[in-house]
Amino acid sequence: MAPNDQTSEVTQPALVSNADDRRISTLLITIAMQAEAMPIVKRLDLKKDDGSLFPEGVSWVRYHGTYKNLNVNVIWPGKDANLGVDSVGTISASLVTFASIRALKPDLIINAGTAGGFKVKGANVGDVYLPSDVAFHDRRIPIPVFDLYGVGSRKTFSTPELLKALNLKIGKLSTGDSLDMSPEDDKSIIANDATLKDMEGAAIAYVADLLKVPAIFVKAVTDIVDGDKPTSEEFLQNLAAVTAALGEAVTRVVDFLSGKLLSQL
Ligand code: ADE
Repeated sequence: MAPNDQTSEVTQPALVSNADDRRISTLLITIAMQAEAMPIVKRLDLKKDDGSLFPEGVSWVRYHGTYKNLNVNVIWPGKDANLGVDSVGTISASLVTFASIRALKPDLIINAGTAGGFKVKGANVGDVYLPSDVAFHDRRIPIPVFDLYGVGSRKTFSTPELLKALNLKIGKLSTGDSLDMSPEDDKSIIANDATLKDMEGAAIAYVADLLKVPAIFVKAVTDIVDGDKPTSEEFLQNLAAVTAALGEAVTRVVDFLSGKLLSQL
């Protein structure tokens, strides 16, 4: 899909085939912000581990426990060591996802978090989506084929039964390392046909694909990117209510996964 002037679309196949008939046992839930993680940790009654899973000294945090016969792990990259804010964005997300997959060997990854939504595509604040596709909007490499690599478009693991059962919304997710949106990002997001904009999804899909683990995405809308409110203000204003809705939606997803085979999603 990459360059905005290009019409050809190259979307890689689903991360992992749905023909895989494994029973889901271990879940890796990756989350960028503490505010997004805590409602889920509380609902699933997870406990913080002793930190021994990850390299000594890193800020990464794991909450884990058994919930409805599932081994559930919530991983949050923690606070930046120098600035004390959540380590949001693609770099932290990729590193912690890679290390977590290697250590936990999950059957399924859920990347849960907040996102900006586009009202022109039908998004409203508080809506919860299960994105069908992910791609990047800030990796512009105008050289043939590198352009497509930069966009990194991928289909998410297909979950028709989950979508039906939970009545969540579906749309495409576009990822970049900025909360705001430059005119160039805007063009790429349109080229990506995205309904949602976040700061981690496509990076997590890349790592999941690399290590051949199926990944799904649960994204709750905190702000309307093509609305009239400044993004950062609207995001902070809605963060508490929307992360509560995200916690409820992720719990419903985990409830649905309990006892299922990957092929039953
Ligand atoms: N997360 C929540 N709102 C967002 C936005 N507008 N852009 C990127 N990530 C977000």
